Amino acid sequence: MEFFDVIKNRRAVRQYKPDLLSKEDILKILDAGNWAPSGRNLQQWDFIVVSGEKKIEMGKSYKVISEVYTADWEQSARDAFVQYAATYGGAPVIIVVLTDADKIPGIRKMNLESASAAMENILLAARALGLGTCWMTGPLQDEASIRQILHIPESKEIVAVTPLGYPVAFPEAPPRLDPELRDKVSWIE
Ligand SMILES: Cc1cc2nc3c(=O)[nH]c(=O)nc-3n(C[C@H](O)[C@H](O)[C@H](O)COP(=O)(O)O)c2cc1C
Repeated sequence: MEFFDVIKNRRAVRQYKPDLLSKEDILKILDAGNWAPSGRNLQQWDFIVVSGEKKIEMGKSYKVISEVYTADWEQSARDAFVQYAATYGGAPVIIVVLTDADKIPGIRKMNLESASAAMENILLAARALGLGTCWMTGPLQDEASIRQILHIPESKEIVAVTPLGYPVAFPEAPPRLDPELRDKVSWIE
């Protein structure tokens, strides 16, 4: 797929087929993450590939969050989102992206942005291979559980997580708020 089509066709996928992924494809996607730009070229990201029992435990944690988050939703939409949360959409794998924790705000920002660049590369590489992802920070509302489940030390900050797998379908693209870039771009000459 052509580069700009990959960007435009990447979607937040919330329903996955149970088909397993090859380790080769997972590593190819994480290699794209590893080639992101980084502040001071520190390459301050780590990736955890979660499957099996630990994935089920992560789903239990996100399910509780999703029940609160969707409390005032219409029932069928709520049921669908809670089911997605409880199983991470049925994806065979969850990728967790970490960066180095730092108390200095400017350094923390640099580290988060570096790992976010890696995260976006991961999402785009997955799409290029026909795989689905969904950038997620909602599960971090119960960060303590994720740290405990995956044994993540305080020296690392959890940036985001994404399910990874073959999508049941790629959803329709949500429209751009400003497709002509009239308001979002200022030209200062
Ligand atoms: C920083 C960030 C956090 C997000 N957190 C969640 C989340 O916790 N759960 C979820 O289902 N989607 C989450 N999303 C996905 C967005 O809902 C999705 O990107 C947005 O609706 C636009 O859809 P698209 O990705 O298909 O273009 C997040 C996206 C970003 C960039």
